[in-house]
Amino acid sequence: MDITNDAGAPSRPTKTILRALAGETLPVPPVWMMRQAGRYLPEYRATRAQAGDFLSLCYNPDLAAEVTLQPIRRYGFDAAILFADILLVPQALGLDLWFVTGEGPRLSTATTPAEIAALKPADAVHDTLGPIYETVRILRRELPDETTLIGFAGAPWTVATYMIAGRGTKDQAPAHALMEADRPTFAALIDRITDATIEYLSAQIEAGAEVVKLFDSWAGSLRGPDFDAFAVAPATRIIAALKARHPGIPVIAFPREAGPRYSGFARATGADCVALDNSVDATWAARNVQRYGCVQGNLAPHHMVTGGQALVDETRRIVAAFSSGPHIFNLGHGITPDADPENVALMVRTVRERR
Ligand code: CP3
Repeated sequence: MDITNDAGAPSRPTKTILRALAGETLPVPPVWMMRQAGRYLPEYRATRAQAGDFLSLCYNPDLAAEVTLQPIRRYGFDAAILFADILLVPQALGLDLWFVTGEGPRLSTATTPAEIAALKPADAVHDTLGPIYETVRILRRELPDETTLIGFAGAPWTVATYMIAGRGTKDQAPAHALMEADRPTFAALIDRITDATIEYLSAQIEAGAEVVKLFDSWAGSLRGPDFDAFAVAPATRIIAALKARHPGIPVIAFPREAGPRYSGFARATGADCVALDNSVDATWAARNVQRYGCVQGNLAPHHMVTGGQALVDETRRIVAAFSSGPHIFNLGHGITPDADPENVALMVRTVRERR
């Protein structure tokens, strides 16, 4: 961090997450959880009902800040993640977005050169996303002093898979098909999303986000040169632009299911930390990923459903595996709606048992 104190000397961050992101090995890893504000919590379900539906909740700054704060009050996590969704960016670029209960997101699509050219320019995203920046400002006022505020966006490849298919897909086949049929058109879409993501994350940082995270949930289906062109290159461009505009703001990258390609991803992209999914062996990752910098992860989310001694044992195993380097404890993917809130408390107690 290149923050300077009154004497002009560089000062070290004090919040646990920022210390880990600056490369410090802490005796107890800081902990937060992907999708920590969500349907497994009765207080989230109540606020969502008050908002009407999921998108109305995202665009209501007071209620979005409230659901962001709920898991902080309940568990005292070291970080809060802004409540929003990665699909707000395609909506801000001009596509229609709606959520079908029990099924997931639906979007109008952009797949032809004309449709992609007709998307709004990157800096027009602020016209739609203003309420999200307001949520960030409220959170910076309301969060406890020790809690780090994380902003986020989807990575261009993952966002593109939804813009091309109009919905979530198991194997991202429609996006791969466009990439193969018309690579320049596909690359133009990736570029447009990359530009918009830089604007969006920059504005979150200006509003008060202290860290930003890039979610590339479908990175695992990119192979060889496609992984380099559409996962590594856009992340590198986004991170370089953010570092130029906002020196000292750390970036976490989550190339989910990148497997062996996790090794080297942080160096290639300039990310301060890579988030590991739960298919990655912690002992392998300590040797091949963490040796180059901070890692985040990677307890399997099903333990939040099943609990018990297996949860405790696996939590301890992950904490121990990453104990000789910078580590932020997290799940390997988002917590699911059927999770038991008591199991989350047990996970947090276990991570912090030697504090
Ligand atoms: O982590 C957090 O708590 C921050 C908020 C957040 C949400 N979505 C809230 C949300 C974040 C970081 C996301 C990221 C996101 N959204 C991703 C990438 C991460 C991942 O999970 O792989 C993706 C692919 C999306 C797109 C998306 N949003 C889908 C596919 C769905 C439907 C699936 C589901 O869980 O219902 C959503 C909805 C969504 N986003 C919910 C939440 C809390 C559930 C909405 C509800 O209340 O019904």
